[in-house]
Amino acid sequence: MTQAFELESLKIRLNDADLQPLDLHLRISRALRALILDAALDPGVKLPATRALAATLGVARDTVENAYVQLHRDGYIVRRGGSGSYVSDTVGAPLRGASGRRIKLRDEQRLDLAPGAGLSRRGRMILESGGVADQRVVQAFATGLPETRTFPVDVWERLQRQVLKDHRDQILLHGDPQGAAPLRKAIAAYLNLERGAKVTADQILVLSSTRQALYLCAQLLVDAGKPILLENPGYFGARKAFEAAEAKVVPIDVDAEGIRMDLLGADRSGAACVYVTPSHQYPTGATLSLARRLELTRWAAERGRWIIEDDYDSEFHYDGLPTACVQGVDKHQRTLYVGTFSKTLFPGLRMGYMALPPELVDAFTRARSIMDGHTPQAVQLTLARFMEDGHYGAHVRAMRKLYAARRNAMLQAVDTHLAGIATALRPEGGLQIPCLLARGWSEARTIRLAASAGLQLPGLSRLYAGPQERQGWILGYSSLTEYEIELAVRRLAGALRKA
Ligand SMILES: Cc1ncc(COP(=O)(O)O)c(C=O)c1O
Repeated sequence: MTQAFELESLKIRLNDADLQPLDLHLRISRALRALILDAALDPGVKLPATRALAATLGVARDTVENAYVQLHRDGYIVRRGGSGSYVSDTVGAPLRGASGRRIKLRDEQRLDLAPGAGLSRRGRMILESGGVADQRVVQAFATGLPETRTFPVDVWERLQRQVLKDHRDQILLHGDPQGAAPLRKAIAAYLNLERGAKVTADQILVLSSTRQALYLCAQLLVDAGKPILLENPGYFGARKAFEAAEAKVVPIDVDAEGIRMDLLGADRSGAACVYVTPSHQYPTGATLSLARRLELTRWAAERGRWIIEDDYDSEFHYDGLPTACVQGVDKHQRTLYVGTFSKTLFPGLRMGYMALPPELVDAFTRARSIMDGHTPQAVQLTLARFMEDGHYGAHVRAMRKLYAARRNAMLQAVDTHLAGIATALRPEGGLQIPCLLARGWSEARTIRLAASAGLQLPGLSRLYAGPQERQGWILGYSSLTEYEIELAVRRLAGALRKA
């Protein structure tokens, strides 16, 4: 036995904030257990007699006795009648470093581990990518946030109570990894009616988000190191999902009519799929023309490629009718349609879905079953009822009207207050407005100046691959009232002109 009992360490541990709410005997046993696990007490070390320790700590002997009983029961100490209590040999020898020197946990914590040490190559890549930082508060001019402050929470709450009552057993047990049948039926009906899709409930896969859908696409359609075609500029969430699967991102430029089919046709990378936002290109706002939609589906059919159609906010189209989705005009069933409720309802819901070509349904459902089983049953069934009872349609119609007015307010405010600094490009729909900076204004500097005025200016150039970047912003407006928009744009103009 080389080591004396560390009474001082025990006293320090006993004062740990984490232990404060516990009964005294539990605090003593936890503190001793921590010393044993940290190898501050070696196997075989003799613990003080209960009477002695009680006197030193100023507690009743029974309290220490109870702590020792607990440690003995859990196997941390052995008690030898007539001899005393000892740290058990079975808790293992202390950690030793390469030199054979004993390492205490405190030493270990000081070891300078590089970020990502111990991760796979893919794990390091994902760590370095920074993930996706979602906007958690309503703030000018964060992109993509819907109006949440007036969401009819009372209706949602009532429906949730109803489904809990009506489907108690179903909700408490596991659900179908493909999604609850009533919700799949409601989504299919909605897509066929409102988005011009041609799908059955059997083709719907209910997921937690667009990002989960893209992650699954990356896993199932693209091998590591192989190419994937992405719009340029494009959605960073898509780029990150494919990069996380070690796919090689090949950018394809977009113009005023969406993705350039001449470039896609000329692509010789051998990519198995292309990711597009045809109804409302992110971030330019372009709508893919019908001619290009048909060309895209022909391209996919002739070359045996997949089209991943991200239809993230097409419900919000303000000038004329929205174009039908690509899935609906794709006679050859090469399109994987991706939808989300993050924009039409609220992002905290974490509900999205795919409408898949029939031959992909099994593979995607099985991959999903490995990933996280299924989406929570209560949420799926509440949403199904929200849709069946007509609340979804009504909410989307109300929001479309509200957002159209907010878009106009934003266009007006940019025109009035930011003349000579930025020009807004009028989008036909969506929840944000792309703006191009006038010559002499740097995107990075304007973002810094805005931040010091408490405003978030999402930059445009980070959405471009390569050197042809445009300097500008993409201004979210949908979560702000018209009054807030006016105030925020005025504040931005003030901060930029003052500098
Ligand atoms: C192009 C695009 N697709 C999809 C989404 C929605 O993503 P999710 O469903 O993961 O919330 C966004 C959100 O900003 C987006 O910009």
